[in-house]
Amino acid sequence: MSLFQWEQNPWGQEILVRISWDLLYLSILGGALFIIGHLIYRAKNPTPASPEPSGKAAPGVPERVVRHSLAARLFHWIMAASVLVLLGTGFFPVMGIQFDWVEIHWIAGLVLVASIVFHIIHALGWMNWRDIWISGKDWAEWKAEMQHVMGKGGAIEKKPGKYPVDHRIFHSMIALAAFGVMITGLLMMVRVDNALFARNPYLLEDSSWGWVYVIHGLSAVGFVGMIMTHIYFAVLPEKRWMTISMIWGWVTKKEYLAHHDPERWVVSKETTD
Ligand code: HEM
Repeated sequence: MSLFQWEQNPWGQEILVRISWDLLYLSILGGALFIIGHLIYRAKNPTPASPEPSGKAAPGVPERVVRHSLAARLFHWIMAASVLVLLGTGFFPVMGIQFDWVEIHWIAGLVLVASIVFHIIHALGWMNWRDIWISGKDWAEWKAEMQHVMGKGGAIEKKPGKYPVDHRIFHSMIALAAFGVMITGLLMMVRVDNALFARNPYLLEDSSWGWVYVIHGLSAVGFVGMIMTHIYFAVLPEKRWMTISMIWGWVTKKEYLAHHDPERWVVSKETTD
C-alpha cells in the first residue's frame, strides 16, 4: 500500500500528484470495521428500551422540546445532499465508473461552501455554539464514557447537555475535513473550466499543486469513513429519535429527560434552537 501518487515531469523530476487511492479503500475498511465492532458491542450490551428519566426537577419544560430550528435543519439537509453528490462525483470515477463529473462536482462544492458559511453565521449569531464545542474538561468526561463502554468503569455519572462528547468530537473532525476540502477545492477550481474563476493552472508550482490535491484527497477520504459511521448511527433504532428530530425539529419531553441533563441543556418554553 502506498500513501501518495508521484509522476515524472518533462525534466525527469518526481512530482507529488495526489494521495494514493488505496487510502479510499482503507477509509471504507475503517468505517466498516468500526460499524461491525459497534454492532458486536451493541449485541452484547443492549440499551434499555426507555432509559431512566432524569430525576432532576425541570420546571417549564414543554411537551415538545425544540432541538433544531428550521434554519438548522435546512442547513443540515442541504449540506448532506451536497456531500453525497461530492462523494459520488469524486469517488465513482476513482472506482472505475466514468462520467462527466467535474462540473457537477464543483457546483455541489459551492453549495457546500455556501451552506457552511450560512451555518457559521447562524451558529455565531443565533445558536449556543458552546453546546457543540469541545473544551479541555470534556476529555475527562469522554475518558469516563469510553471506560464505561469498555466495561472498565462504573456507571456514567452525568447525562450530557445538548450534545454528548462523542458528538462534539465528531463535529470537530467533520469540520476539519470540511475546511480541508473547501479551501483546497476553491483553489482547485482554477485548474478546471468553470463559471467563477479564470483558468490558471500556473497559479502554483507543480509541487504545491501536489500538496493541494493531497489535502483535498485526505480530507475527502476522511469524509468517507465518517459519513459511513454517521449514517449507521442515524438509522440505529435507539438513535432514531435524534434523526427524527433533525426532520421535525423537536424531541418529546420524555426523550429530553431520558437522554439529557436539564441543568446542562436548559430548556424553557422560549427555547428556540
Ligand atoms: C465531501 C467533499 C468532497 C469530496 C469527497 C471531494 C472529492 C474529490 C476527489 C476524490 C477529487 C479527485 C482528486 C484528484 O484527482 O486527486 C476531487 C477533485 C476536485 N474537487 Fe473535490 N471533493 C469535495 C469537496 C469539494 C469542494 C467543496 C470543492 C469546491 C468548492 C471541490 C472542487 C474540486 C475540484 C475543482 C476538483 C479538481 C478536478 C480536477 O482537477 O480535475 N471539491 N474532489
